[in-house]
Amino acid sequence: MPADPPSPPRPKRPARGPYADAPCLPEGAEVALASLVGGTTFELEIGPGRGGFIQERAVARPDVGVVGLEVRRKWAAIVDGRLAARGLEGRARVFAEDAKEALPRLSPAASVSVVYLHFPDPWWKKRHQKRLVMELPVLDQIARLLVPGGHLFIQTDVSERAEQYEALLRSDARFEPAGDEPASARLAENPYDARSPRERRAIADGLPIHRVRFSKKTA
Ligand SMILES: C[S@@+](CC[C@H](N)C(=O)[O-])C[C@H]1O[C@@H](n2cnc3c(N)ncnc32)[C@H](O)[C@@H]1O
Repeated sequence: MPADPPSPPRPKRPARGPYADAPCLPEGAEVALASLVGGTTFELEIGPGRGGFIQERAVARPDVGVVGLEVRRKWAAIVDGRLAARGLEGRARVFAEDAKEALPRLSPAASVSVVYLHFPDPWWKKRHQKRLVMELPVLDQIARLLVPGGHLFIQTDVSERAEQYEALLRSDARFEPAGDEPASARLAENPYDARSPRERRAIADGLPIHRVRFSKKTA
């Protein structure tokens, strides 16, 4: 199924409050990833929160440019500032953006090698359904942005959520499982030399972590 073409961005209301100057993507219908970060390949983190993963990943892989999209202005500002303080701003940035609105603006297609969602969608109540990130419009954008063979990696401590994501991806002809075993979508470990804050907390609390990985089909 082809991804929808990018729709013109809605004008944003000016932000207020202590994080009004949180970094946002440049204006415009299309934003080139290469204008945001350097690197020989790009990775995206949706919802980096307090940002441990993006920092550790940028340190572990100096060849990669990582872009985080974090809807909470406070954490986008703080984490982007921490990346700059560590001299990583040339390869890792976090922008205060809703991934649902920002992903369609990123370009070019087929330029991202990994998309990460660490512990997304913790809400259960029906009234929170509209807040879910990992739904078809976002998946369409992930499919558009990934290189053929590129990975979508999702981890969560909610087993039903992992099952839901796996079922969604298994039903999608653009993706195939890329787990530890052939035909499996599950990974026992996180292979990316970096951990998210929620991941560290789950490990400390002894909670099981469900890791799901799919790759974009090459043909
Ligand atoms: C449960 S927290 C997990 C944070 C981090 N990934 C971790 O593992 O520690 C989910 C994060 O996703 C962010 N988020 C939720 N919906 C989002 C959206 N539509 N666009 C960008 N970020 C979003 C939240 O603000 C929050 O930081």
